[in-house]
Amino acid sequence: MSQSMDPVVVMKQEVGKAAANLVVSNTIVGLGTGSTTAYAIEYIGDRLKNGEISNIQGIPTSFQAEVLAKQYGIPLTTLDAVDHIDMAIDGADEVDPQKNLIKGGGAAHTREKIVDSLATQFIVVVDSSKLVEKLGSTFKLPVEVIPMAMTPVMRAIAQLGGKPELRMGIRKAGPVITDQGNMVIDVEFAAIPDPAALEKTLNNIPGVLENGLFVGVTDLVFSR
Ligand code: A5P
Repeated sequence: MSQSMDPVVVMKQEVGKAAANLVVSNTIVGLGTGSTTAYAIEYIGDRLKNGEISNIQGIPTSFQAEVLAKQYGIPLTTLDAVDHIDMAIDGADEVDPQKNLIKGGGAAHTREKIVDSLATQFIVVVDSSKLVEKLGSTFKLPVEVIPMAMTPVMRAIAQLGGKPELRMGIRKAGPVITDQGNMVIDVEFAAIPDPAALEKTLNNIPGVLENGLFVGVTDLVFSR
């Protein structure tokens, strides 16, 4: 089966395009991370190239997003240079009926949470496999941890009832290292009855930089 025939790829392309079509001229756009947002970045670049929109400034949420934005000709800026973000487009690993998310499958959730939370409108783009009734039911919760605190953080998470696992690289020996130089643990919880409370509790553990629960941040979900 060719890649363009893969139904999941088609779904990702469709939602990426739908979100990219909402971008208007003279705006600052947060550029998310992952395979779905990659299509949105590509289509924003296409729309800039064909003159449909102009004067867009992108704020990347990761090294990957930065590389793609450059590849597709989207001018970039930084949070130091702007006082707002009009719209952010980003993927997710799970979306619940309240539009709360688990993110971090690409280990980019720390920067994603900064950029997505600042956006006036935050649009999530996902294929239908990401829609769940309860967060944590299909995906372990990513937590970015400062390396020297790994052992006590793992212990604290186990005391909360989670099963932490250090994320290991693929085609790279050793752990995944984030864009900030930290490590990621993926935590299995039997259930996440109160995502807002768990988000705060985890971030209160010394050594935790950020976890992948996004509560009350999403404005719109595009799913196919
Ligand atoms: C990156 O850390 C994640 O939050 C991604 O946004 C998420 O994993 C979605 O990626 P895909 O669109 O590739 O599924």
